[in-house]
Amino acid sequence: MSTEFEPRIVAFMCNWCTYAAADSAGVARMESPANVLPVRVMCSGRVSPEMVLRAFRAGADGVLVMGCHIGDCHYSSGNHRTAKRMPILRNLLGYAGINPERLRLAWVSSAEAPRFVKVTQEFVEKVQALGPLAQEVAE
Ligand code: FES
Repeated sequence: MSTEFEPRIVAFMCNWCTYAAADSAGVARMESPANVLPVRVMCSGRVSPEMVLRAFRAGADGVLVMGCHIGDCHYSSGNHRTAKRMPILRNLLGYAGINPERLRLAWVSSAEAPRFVKVTQEFVEKVQALGPLAQEVAE
């Protein structure tokens, strides 16, 4: 039996790209981490800072925000907003005692199932190395 810390990851995924990539990865039987709880949104621009903070408050050890590549957003500039918002939020996390590395933004198109698997695996490993968020906040 493994005693390795299994982080809880909340992944906000754009319906038009990353969610489809996750679906394709599943259909192709690619192995992706079971730690990831998908939350489908219509655009990454829909993901507010409050939603990310709420995910942490609800017990997530890490949060992924994934959307269409720049230039491919179905609502034209939704992901531009995400690209501006998430780095600012990452900086603010530090003030709340949360390591900014616990939040990652990634662009994954519907044709990039292998990239979806890679990004989620890498992120799970990173958060595994950071340890539980509850432990970090208590320190
Ligand atoms: Fe996918 Fe906007 S529609 S990021």
